Amino acid sequence: MNRATILVTGGAGYIGSHVALQLRARAERVVVLDDLSRGFRQAVLDTPLVVGQVGDRDTVLEVLRTHGIDTVMHFAAWTVVPQSVSEPLKYYGNNTCSTRSLLECCLEAGVRNFVFSSSAAVYGIPAGGIAAEGTPPAPINPYGTSKLMSEWMLRDVAAASPLKYVALRYFNVAGSDSAGRVGQATPNATLLVKVACEAAVGKRPHISIFGTDYPTPDGTGVRDYIHVEDLATAHLDALDYLRGGGASTVLNVGYGHGYSVREVLASIERVAGKRLATREEPRRPGDPPALVARADRIRSELGWRPRLDDLDTIVRTSLEWERRLLRDPW
Ligand code: UFG
Repeated sequence: MNRATILVTGGAGYIGSHVALQLRARAERVVVLDDLSRGFRQAVLDTPLVVGQVGDRDTVLEVLRTHGIDTVMHFAAWTVVPQSVSEPLKYYGNNTCSTRSLLECCLEAGVRNFVFSSSAAVYGIPAGGIAAEGTPPAPINPYGTSKLMSEWMLRDVAAASPLKYVALRYFNVAGSDSAGRVGQATPNATLLVKVACEAAVGKRPHISIFGTDYPTPDGTGVRDYIHVEDLATAHLDALDYLRGGGASTVLNVGYGHGYSVREVLASIERVAGKRLATREEPRRPGDPPALVARADRIRSELGWRPRLDDLDTIVRTSLEWERRLLRDPW
């Protein structure tokens, strides 16, 4: 089938690069738009890359028109929560205002489908630590707010135009490409699995445990860790759904069960075959005790079937990637 081309914004970043690989593996035509401020040219492999910003109307319109784009998958965003607290306008500018500009270009160029990279951060601290799509959003930081504002723009644009969208609210993404081609290469990373794998390969002297007095089974924070390849597959399922005439929707992407910080660290020790040096520290400001997805809707609406729902598998791929980065830094 001769399908139109898909624009992947932020395709040189961690999640976007995994999605681009899966799209290519399915023989979709793909163009990546990335300003390489956070992403890596290496992550794009041989997919066509336009270096530019999502908020740059001229660049975006040209890409949409010259490549005949009918679907946009929008990953380009800044994602560091504490930075969003100290520099909120940067996040509203880069995440929300750029999305507004992108949407305007999409309408002008007749783009029909839009898959948006949203976040569990829109929920803030939900009661009981479990968030369903119907849980009222209540972000507690500008990052989460910037994503929620984009969701709301999409909702309103879809109501007023032929554009349809799927917004995917990611829970805690970890792991990397099973074939070792791409992975998370962010410098000064803060995410638990990445940081702990860096400690396991000797890049960091120790790993901090932020908070040991939460009302959770072992006192440490609980999260719904999802393998980036399963997350990527959800985007392909969203694409098929929209192409098949599915209505605009917002869906959680998580496995629906959580692990504590101590359980994650135990998995890393198991997979790495060594003990990690840990330091127990106070709670990190703004961290909810637990955040786990109600994750049934994406299965029923998109037919999403995760294949890598296993903590040790997530950790093994993360660790292999970290070892590769040691040998061949990006
Ligand atoms: N943690 C540690 N030590 C570390 C890093 C993290 O103990 O060095 C703990 C945190 O306190 C938390 C858990 O590990 O309990 C997970 O923390 P991450 O930083 O890996 O992830 P977050 O849950 O804070 O962040 C995720 C997403 C963000 C999103 C946020 C809010 O990665 O994009 O959830 O929902 F905004």
